[in-house]
Amino acid sequence: MSEVHLVRQALRAVLSGQQRAAADHHRPAWHLAPPVGLMNDPNGFIHFNQRYVLCYQWNPLACAHGAKFWGQWSSDDLVNWRHEPLALAPSEPYESHGCYSGCAVDNQGELTVLYTGNVKFDDGSRTAWQCLATRDEHGEFHKHGPVLALPEGYTGHVRDPKVWQHDGLWYMVLGAQNLASEGKVLLFRSPDLHQWTSLGEIAGSHLNGLEAFGYMWECPDLFELDGSSVLVVCPQGLAAEARRWRNTFQSGYFCGTLDYPALQFRHGEFHELDHGFEFYAPQTCLSADGRRLLIGWMGIPDGDEFFQPTRDHGWMHIMTCPRELTLRDGRLVQQPARELQQLRRQEMHFTGSAQSLPALVIDSAELELTVSGSCELKFAGTLQLTVESEGLTLRRNNLRSGEPEERYWSGDVRTLRILCDRSSVEIFINEGEAVMSSRYFPSAEPQLRFYGAGQIGLRHWSLRQCVIE
Ligand code: FRU
Repeated sequence: MSEVHLVRQALRAVLSGQQRAAADHHRPAWHLAPPVGLMNDPNGFIHFNQRYVLCYQWNPLACAHGAKFWGQWSSDDLVNWRHEPLALAPSEPYESHGCYSGCAVDNQGELTVLYTGNVKFDDGSRTAWQCLATRDEHGEFHKHGPVLALPEGYTGHVRDPKVWQHDGLWYMVLGAQNLASEGKVLLFRSPDLHQWTSLGEIAGSHLNGLEAFGYMWECPDLFELDGSSVLVVCPQGLAAEARRWRNTFQSGYFCGTLDYPALQFRHGEFHELDHGFEFYAPQTCLSADGRRLLIGWMGIPDGDEFFQPTRDHGWMHIMTCPRELTLRDGRLVQQPARELQQLRRQEMHFTGSAQSLPALVIDSAELELTVSGSCELKFAGTLQLTVESEGLTLRRNNLRSGEPEERYWSGDVRTLRILCDRSSVEIFINEGEAVMSSRYFPSAEPQLRFYGAGQIGLRHWSLRQCVIE
């Protein structure tokens, strides 16, 4: 379908749907959400020409997955955002079933994106092209077409390029599935972003000491942090265990060393990035001052998503808040980007046993708690966080089945920092040692209530609305 036609369709969808979406009390006050339609992965996250650019997988035409577009926002402070012209529409034969996920790089002052052209055939099979587009000084994207065809030995599931520069050369990782249905990460190198040479598999099922570890790995991101190489990746097909890997698909990381001369990535164990109900497909970039920032999709492509009530208002899903990454004892530590403190309004303090604390309005709020002993936090009566000596349990009723479901974090809880925004909570444990991100769908004016004898020291801020122009 022609690009003009697709863009007109998207415009019509926004014009006819934005009021209904904006009127939904579940719409976030300061997290990023699509104006209408279904949003998933963050794409093309970069700090470029004094501004952050964040694109997103977007189906503006329906609350369903399908032939994805790239929507685009920008910001100079990670707090106030601006809608930018739609970046990519799936108009060409090599991307007929979606401009799938990818990244942005600064190629000598030219913002260049690499993404996956997804093509499905009538017999149910598919192929994938890794494609390149550049943004001109007017903000227009120009497609240069495929720069890499499907490598031999893999199914049509090869996608989500993430590219970086090292010693004057470009490197790219791709998520892939081989013909034996094993998830892998592939490495490529290029002098110019156009000609790519395969350097082989650097991680995946049956590599680096892993046994079978999923049938497909999506959205790899490889970067240096505090002297280590970190591979963030989303393996699909890990069996749920009693207290971990409970979501349909996982999102986590391996720490190790990328040995460029040997073209090997030696790494340790897989750790989950987030222990909540909704988190997937994160992407990172470097901030202006050299911090490694991460934004994830607060969603999972698991089918339960279609039972979220925002669908009735014509929009679905939000991004997580931007997070700063550091490494502590070989583990990633995530903290809300410090810029978010600009959102804080009046501060209130409380101390005492949990049950003596007043109910707090958590429509759009930040809480910092020190905790000793057991207690329970109930978010609008719909989402419940239990703090015990063995760790945390987050409980809610599944939107599809109505049955209770739980997620866990095991460890000694000392502090919690909780960001609430209308229909989401992000719980940062022990200064970012772990995070639990989840959606929930309370009635308007949600309140947080505390139960139990545990002692709590609490700071509470209501957070202002951010501006999205
Ligand atoms: C992850 C993912 C990616 C793909 C995109 C399509 O959520 O499946 O692998 O590029 O979403 O929207």
